[in-house]
Amino acid sequence: MKPLLLFLLLLLLPATSAINLSNRVISAVNCGGPETLGAYGILYSEDPSDSGVSSDAGRAFSFSNAEDRDVEIYQTERWSKESFSYEIPVSEDGDYVIILKFSEVYFERPDQKVFNVKINSKTVVKNLDIFEKSGGRGFAHDIYIPINYRGKIVIELAKGANDNPKINGFVVLRGGLEGLPEPPEKFVASERFREDFDMYENDIIEEYVKPQVIQDSSSEVDPESEEMFTATTGSENPFEQESSMDSLLLPVISAFIIIIPVAYVFQMRYAHD
Ligand SMILES: *[C@@H]1O[C@H](CO)[C@@H](O)[C@H](O)[C@H]1NC(C)=O
Repeated sequence: MKPLLLFLLLLLLPATSAINLSNRVISAVNCGGPETLGAYGILYSEDPSDSGVSSDAGRAFSFSNAEDRDVEIYQTERWSKESFSYEIPVSEDGDYVIILKFSEVYFERPDQKVFNVKINSKTVVKNLDIFEKSGGRGFAHDIYIPINYRGKIVIELAKGANDNPKINGFVVLRGGLEGLPEPPEKFVASERFREDFDMYENDIIEEYVKPQVIQDSSSEVDPESEEMFTATTGSENPFEQESSMDSLLLPVISAFIIIIPVAYVFQMRYAHD
C-alpha cells in the first residue's frame, strides 16, 4: 500500500526538476552576491557591477514560491538611486531569452517601489511593482523576455515612478521559450488551504496552475520594440499546454488515490470472510 501511494504522490510533483539549462546559458549573474549554483543547472557568476549598492537584506526571507536552489539568488540584490545596467557580450545573432529575477525584501506594501526595465534602450517592462507581482515581501518574481538579437544586449534597471530600481539576478539563454520551466507563481495567502480542496475541484486547479508571467501582460511593451521582442501572449503561451495536461492529470491521480484505499478495505473484508 504505502509504496504505491508514495509513487502516486511522486507523480504529482512537476517534472521541472529534470530541466537542465546549463548548455543554453550565455550569461548568468547573481546580482549583489557571490557565485551561486541555482536551479536547472544554471551557474550564476559573482556580480561584476559596482553601480549603486549590493545588499543581502533578503537573507531574512525564504522565498517559498521559488525553486529551493534559487533562494540564494533572491536573497542578494543590487539597487541604485540612479538607473544602472548590465552589458552582456553575445557573439551570434539569433533568438535568446532573458530571465530577470526579482524580489521585494524591504517594502511592506505595493506601489512603494515602481521602476522600469529597458533592453537596449527600449522599455520592455513598464511600472514594475515587485511586491504586487510576487504577492508580497519575500517572494520571487521572474520575467521572461524572448528577444531576437541583433547587436549587443544591455539590461537597464531604469529609475521609475517610485523609489529605486533593483535586480536580484538575470540569465541570458540561447533559443526560445520552448523547454523553459514555469516562472515562480505569485504567492496567494490562502493557497495552502485552497490546495486541499483543489485536489477534487478540476476547474479551480486550472485557475491556479496557470503560470504567472511569460511576457508580463500588464507591463506594456513599447510598440517600437515589437519587431525585436517576440513576446508570446494568450493562446501562444507555450506553458498553456502543460497546464491543461496537469489539470487532466491531477483529477485522474486524485481518483486513484481515493479508489486505492477503498479497494484495499474491500479486499481486506473479502480476505476476512
Ligand atoms: C546539467 O548539465 C551539466 C552538463 O551537461 C552537468 O555538468 C550538470 O551537473 C547538470 N546539472 C544538473 C543540476 O543536473
